[in-house]
Amino acid sequence: MRLASSRYKRDRSGVREMMERSWARDDVVHLEIGESGLKTAAHILKAAADASERGENGYSPTPGLPQLRAALAEKLVQVNKHAGASADNVLVTNGGGNALFVIFGTILDAQSSILLPDPGWSSFPLIARAVGATPEYYAIRESAGFLPDPDELRKLINDNTRALVVNSPSNPLGRTIPESLARELYQLCVEYDLWLVSDECYDQIDFTGEYISFGSLEEKPERVLSVFSFSKVYAMTGWRVGYCHLPPEMIDPVLSLLEPSILCVNTPAQYAALAALEGSQEDFRRALECYKANRELVIEGLRGSCFETLKPDGGFYIWLKINIDGASSEDVAIELLEKHSVVVTPGTAFGPGGEGYLRISIATTAELLSEGVKRLLCYRNN
Ligand SMILES: Cc1ncc(COP(=O)(O)O)c(C=O)c1O
Repeated sequence: MRLASSRYKRDRSGVREMMERSWARDDVVHLEIGESGLKTAAHILKAAADASERGENGYSPTPGLPQLRAALAEKLVQVNKHAGASADNVLVTNGGGNALFVIFGTILDAQSSILLPDPGWSSFPLIARAVGATPEYYAIRESAGFLPDPDELRKLINDNTRALVVNSPSNPLGRTIPESLARELYQLCVEYDLWLVSDECYDQIDFTGEYISFGSLEEKPERVLSVFSFSKVYAMTGWRVGYCHLPPEMIDPVLSLLEPSILCVNTPAQYAALAALEGSQEDFRRALECYKANRELVIEGLRGSCFETLKPDGGFYIWLKINIDGASSEDVAIELLEKHSVVVTPGTAFGPGGEGYLRISIATTAELLSEGVKRLLCYRNN
């Protein structure tokens, strides 16, 4: 019996590796986790329970509940400024990760490659390989302000390149791509006739007001394939609701992968997502304030230490540069866990360009974060 040749070259996820190392310990502070420590809002929980009680537990249409798709189109117009957003062009997916999977599967094949940020979310290359394509990293360098560099991208594009992936606000860097650069990247995709896959799963976790959605650069959806999620914004990681907004001619091809893979997203969870959109935004606003305060706490707490912080524009991570000669990300992460009982993610979990860096999450309570910072400060200080 044989396995598909290209698909299972699976690098271990550095995030999971650190979690597994720490599972046996109950004395550790977790700063590696990519989800909010806050709870899903009560009105969202109630909407799912109410839907179940009404008996709305059956399959929904594969593209999603019509009322949810309509509410998402409205959100895309109001929040993301997609002038041409329409419910027909929205597909509800099993989280943003599933949206990326079906999009990659639709636009890539064995001969094609896709440009992925390095450092970038660790699943991008796994998804590219899973659909049989070749992931091609583009470096995001400190010297370019931790933003994509169009000149660097130009050097990498060849006949096999099908798409560019951008992620703003970024995991793990916390950078948002400013409008002028977003326009430049869009033009580059026009010039080389590439799809622009824009992962905006952290869209509303925006500290500076500078986030702009790539889909807002088009009058009507043409080459931007936009991916969003309820996971991070509404503290709903386990509910598995995401969505994408696509050009009309992409809907049927993407549905031909979505339908056999998931049939539909959990129906009560779709009602919960609808309540998240239409109900009070108070919990989300409080979460945003909490992440903002946590951002200051870490930046102030680590000032002058061997961990230099990159002040995030959005998302809920802080990227730390390790200012110690010769120390690898993994060695530092392991020593922090073993000697100081704090779990962080080595930068190399996000691609080779992450060497020399660590990622910590600020989506936790101020109390735990303060303790985590205290433990980070102990590194090589005692
Ligand atoms: C950049 C990015 N995109 C997509 C996802 C997937 O999130 P979900 O599938 O929960 O929506 C994550 C999760 O960590 C992420 O960091």
